[in-house]
Amino acid sequence: MIISSPNDFRAAAKSKLPPFLFHYIDGGANSEHTLGRNTSDLQQVGLKQRILRNMEGLSLDTELFGEKLALPVVLAPVGLTGMYARRGEVQAATAASNKGIPFTMSTVSVCPIEEVTPKIDRDMWFQLYVLKDRGFMKNVLERAKAAGVKTLVFTVDMPVPGSRYRDMHSGMSGPNAAIRRVMQAVMHPDWALQVGLMGKPHDLGNISTYRGQPTNLEDYIGWLGNNFDPSISWKDLEWIRDLWDGPMIIKGILDQQDAKDAVRFGADGIVVSNHGGRQLDGVSSSVNALPSIADAVKGDIKILVDSGIRSGLDVVRMLALGADCTMIGRSYIYALAAKGQAGVEQLIELYEKEMRVAMTLTGAKSIKELNRDALETTHQALLSGKLL
Ligand code: FNR
Ligand code: LAC
Repeated sequence: MIISSPNDFRAAAKSKLPPFLFHYIDGGANSEHTLGRNTSDLQQVGLKQRILRNMEGLSLDTELFGEKLALPVVLAPVGLTGMYARRGEVQAATAASNKGIPFTMSTVSVCPIEEVTPKIDRDMWFQLYVLKDRGFMKNVLERAKAAGVKTLVFTVDMPVPGSRYRDMHSGMSGPNAAIRRVMQAVMHPDWALQVGLMGKPHDLGNISTYRGQPTNLEDYIGWLGNNFDPSISWKDLEWIRDLWDGPMIIKGILDQQDAKDAVRFGADGIVVSNHGGRQLDGVSSSVNALPSIADAVKGDIKILVDSGIRSGLDVVRMLALGADCTMIGRSYIYALAAKGQAGVEQLIELYEKEMRVAMTLTGAKSIKELNRDALETTHQALLSGKLL
């Protein structure tokens, strides 16, 4: 299969993965309306072409919390990454490190923290979910710190898992799920060998390390529902703030008031996100939520955004609308499933190339210079309320 654009990895991942995994990655909540809007609304954002401005020396570098990024893209936390490629967290983190950007490990990763950090040359970010067992959180934060993690991403939009109907059909959950998964693995021998056999152990590495016994992945979706804590509130954030001295980012904000509260709380960053359309179907796309949040808190806190980004061009659109940095989820996971570490490196190169073209032709020579001037005039007017 020829890969020429970032989107080509999706079809490659689809043919490689057993359907229960592909659909877990690809799907969203309920009727997937928000999932669809994340990408379609983003593509509606028009850019403005400017010419003859001597764009030699253009740079994509940026700085976040004292850390240098080769481009304003971070690999988002994605659960079960070690099921999509052999020890997938190690491969993705290595690719990110080689390309000069951060990798964020999910709480519900397959590889534990201690398996990944010794193999990479830069600091990893860690994402925290609040489990009912608060002992785990204390334990995992201590372990993250000991492993050199400085930046903590605290995800707040999953007090309960969303209604992912695709998972029932695909065999991720639902009746006879285990036997359906075995049959799918037989039909995907490359995955069955590389990941199914050679990629063991298959469990939630961070949680198994804490409990001293493997977590059973038979009913992963059920596990999330039973163990995530629906009682989380700003109080928990205070408790975590006391345990964590590095930068803390709150992930899952869509509302202007919540963004202001994050500033008041003293967070270092936010991620404007609807969890890739996997939680509350019907909420706004991230790209539509971004401008009003940027109007309210830009400069007071670092604004990251995710959900729907599929290309370097999309990164430029998000930055033009006020983000300081972006996160990508599915886009890199497809590349990882298709071609492992090399696939993720190739994807990051494609993003870089697209960003260079877009910045050259919108007249932004650096990330700092990329702002609403890069937007099509009608889009600027829309944002300032003149066309609403
Ligand atoms: C996620 N996401 C996620 N977020 C998080 O904070 N912790 C997690 O464990 C996971 N797990 C996870 C699994 C899978 C398969 C997907 C697709 C996503 C959400 C993720 O970090 C990010 O917010 C979205 O993926 C962004 O949307 P795009 O880039 O996938 O459109
Ligand atoms: C998900 C969780 C694990 O989106 O964040 O599936």
